[in-house]
Amino acid sequence: MQVLDKKIIFVGGKGGVGKSTSAAAIAWKAAGDGNRTLLISTDPAHNLGDIFDESIGGKITDISDNLAALEIDPAAETEKYIKGVKENITNVVQSSRMEEVNRQLDTAKASPGAEEAALFDKLISIILEESDRYDKIIFDTAPTGHTIRLLSLPELMGVWIEGMLKKRQKTNENYTQLLNDGDPVDDPIYEVLKVRKDRFSKAREILLDGSITGFVFVINPERLPIVETEKAIKLLDQYHLHVKTLIINKLLPDEAEGEFLLKRKEHEQHYLDMIEETFVKQEKIYVPLFPHDITEKRHLEAFSKYYLEG
Ligand SMILES: Nc1ncnc2c1ncn2[C@@H]1O[C@H](COP(=O)(O)OP(=O)(O)OP(=O)(O)O)[C@@H](O)[C@H]1O
Ligand SMILES: [Mg+2]
Repeated sequence: MQVLDKKIIFVGGKGGVGKSTSAAAIAWKAAGDGNRTLLISTDPAHNLGDIFDESIGGKITDISDNLAALEIDPAAETEKYIKGVKENITNVVQSSRMEEVNRQLDTAKASPGAEEAALFDKLISIILEESDRYDKIIFDTAPTGHTIRLLSLPELMGVWIEGMLKKRQKTNENYTQLLNDGDPVDDPIYEVLKVRKDRFSKAREILLDGSITGFVFVINPERLPIVETEKAIKLLDQYHLHVKTLIINKLLPDEAEGEFLLKRKEHEQHYLDMIEETFVKQEKIYVPLFPHDITEKRHLEAFSKYYLEG
């Protein structure tokens, strides 16, 4: 699987297709190959802990040789994020206005997009600050829509912060002229925004660099995952994020017998043809349906064997 060369790998796809399992198997394989690997779940409904039979939670936890995992809780991250903003602002806002500002921030916390923003902030921290410690960082993402919004954020936030910075600069220039004959004024808000903008651009560069970051989508040979994934891939293309690998998971095994299963296999073949036609550019990895759920390390071992092919 070519994507195993990348340092940062995002695993996406529709609900229930096998994202967490695939991400865990990729991480398992990477760690087995001797890479220091960090596996991260950004899905509020985590199940990495179940697969590794270990409680993981919000701290990076060692779960096996070369392998550590982290489950990010979007609600807790939002809480932390808003708290951070409040602290930042305390120094720059008049104390008489602080109550009002806090109230507005609490409203912001509950607004749509707040969790994504906080999650994205955390993601950036990991990409920028853990990259030296790990050879591979694998992200198990939440179902499709969520991931796309998350990954399109650097673009949107970049534009937004750019606008804020310009406005701020203009204000400062006016202020400067007014106050002290052209000596620039120190503006802590400008500084905070500038630091954030620089972090966004750095993260964006890494996400857009196809030699560092790879995107994998998991699908099943069924109509809806195919249709939805086709849309998602097109949308991500618009953000210059190119999905180059597909894992087609839960194929009926070759040894399936009996009239019922043979009929199912015919249907499946139809969808496999559709996959070949729809996803011409992507590398495709085929993984069979196992007779059991993937809940143990030895299952992951068997699952990840399929990554050697293709
Ligand atoms: N190839 C397979 N054979 C048998 N069971 C599988 C296979 N792949 C995944 N599973 C099982 O299917 C279920 C769903 O897989 P998983 O949790 O990885 O999906 P997901 O895409 O992460 O779901 P969600 O969208 O809820 O996060 C799990 O019980 C898992 O053990
Ligand atoms: Mg999952």
